[in-house]
This record gives sequence, C-alpha cells and structure tokens, in this order.
Amino acid sequence: MVKLSIFIILLAIHQAYSESTHKNEIPKYIHVCNRNLAPEQLNECVRRSILLLKPRLSRGIPQLSLPPCHPLYLPKVSFSQEQGPINLNSTYTNIKVYGLSDFELQSVKIDLKRDFFQLKMLFPELYMTADYLIAGQLLMLPLQGKGQSYGNYTEVETTATLHCERVLGLDKQEHFIIQDLSVDFTIGNAKWKFDGDNELCTVMNKFINDNWKLIIGEMRPAIQGAMAKIIGKITGKIFELYSIDKLLPE
Ligand SMILES: *[C@@H]1O[C@H](CO)[C@@H](O)[C@H](O)[C@H]1NC(C)=O
Ligand SMILES: *[C@@H]1O[C@H](CO)[C@@H](O)[C@H](O)[C@H]1NC(C)=O
Repeated sequence: MVKLSIFIILLAIHQAYSESTHKNEIPKYIHVCNRNLAPEQLNECVRRSILLLKPRLSRGIPQLSLPPCHPLYLPKVSFSQEQGPINLNSTYTNIKVYGLSDFELQSVKIDLKRDFFQLKMLFPELYMTADYLIAGQLLMLPLQGKGQSYGNYTEVETTATLHCERVLGLDKQEHFIIQDLSVDFTIGNAKWKFDGDNELCTVMNKFINDNWKLIIGEMRPAIQGAMAKIIGKITGKIFELYSIDKLLPE
C-alpha cells in the first residue's frame, strides 16, 4: 500500500497546472468514455480505449506523461531484504524493461461511486537488463558482486488497484488523487543471469535460478512497492494534468 500525501499532490496539481495551461487537453486520438455509462459498459469502454492506445505505448505518449515503454527505462531500484533466508542489499541501475507494450488487458473495473479502479494485465514475456550491485547473504552463501544482469519473466500477471479521492485543483476543476495504490503479481517463470568477475557468479546463478520462487516470494513486498511507485507516478501525473471532466466527461 502506498499512501500519498494530499498536500504534496495539491502542490503538484498547482505546478502541473501552471506549467501547462494550454497543454492539458486530452489528445484527440484518445477515446474518452462517458462517466454515465452503465458500469459494465464503462469498464468495456475504458478497456477498449486502453487497447486502442497500445500501438502508441511503445513510443510513449508525452501528452499523457506516459514514458516510452519499449523499453521502459528506470534509473534505479533498490531492495533491502534483512529477514529470513535472504539477507541482501541489491541495487539495480540503468534498468531497461522490454515487452511492457505487449500486454493483454484482462479486465478493467471502475466504480465511480467509490472512485475505485482496478486493472488486470498479463505480460506474456518481459525481458530486463540492469547493472547490479549486490551485497549480503543468500541462505548461508555470502554474496558480493556487481556487473550486468539479465532477467526473463514469462506469464507475468499484475493487478493494480487504486482508491482515489476527488480534490478541487487550482484550475477550479475536480481531479482524482490517489489515496491507496496496491499492486499484486504472479510470475509463470523467471530466469536470471548475473555477469560478474568472480567464481561465485556461477554458483550464484545456479542457486538463484533453482530458487527463483523462494527469492521472488521473499522479495514480494519490495517488488510490489517498486511497481506501485512506478504506476503511482504515471497515474498521478495523468490525474494532475487532466480533470475528471476531461478524463470521464458527462
Ligand atoms: C544493507 O544496508 C543497510 C543500510 O542501508 C545496512 O545497515 C546493512 O548492514 C546492509 N546489509 C547487508 C547485508 O549488507
Ligand atoms: C532471455 O531470452 C532471450 C530470448 O529468448 C535469450 O536470448 C536470453 O538468453 C534469455 N536470458 C536469460 C537470462 O534467460
């Protein structure tokens, strides 16, 4: 669960508004949905408009503050795992994630009475490269190293659940702000490769691939937190830029 402070978001709405008084019209190629549609129709309408955007997602949609997602570039993600069989600090930098634009949209659920949104997506194949820096212990095995890492993930199913509130922006329009955001995921299969300059790498690569389920299980809260941060940043930006009237007109 990620709690975002209302104050910071109000400040951000202010900034976004003053930076982009003319820019915050929804681009014409985005198919907006009428908020008075029956719930099932609204879900389907939003699902279809996300699918229509799919071809543009790999290049990114600057007007919506959506970054290019083929690959998606992340400067840095750190994990600190201090309990259980894994006692590791790991930092990944210069991360590139490939395959995010090839998603299947399994379901969209919108409840405007509760300002609740839920998106289920399946990524058949994700490929990730990053520079890693690892220090700590995995079971009894001491680990220390840095280098390039590669990861393949198949059948990645993610569910993002958002609870929003409505606030009046400085543009005198109502905007959504994120109250709670949680992300859940399952992975069909994971395969990793860590390049490095020492012997331990061979042992480590075998160990982590044999134990990927355990490792992902242990790191689940940290991974969910990292995913929620990315999704929250992108969604929050869209909500800052566009009022509810623009996103879901009457
Ligand atoms: C991980 O980093 C924290 C500080 O961020 C440090 O206190 C801890 O000892 C480190 N753990 C390992 C296993 O290196
Ligand atoms: C990931 O998949 C690609 C393409 O199938 C393959 O070339 C690469 O060796 C795989 N990497 C790992 C770490 O499994």
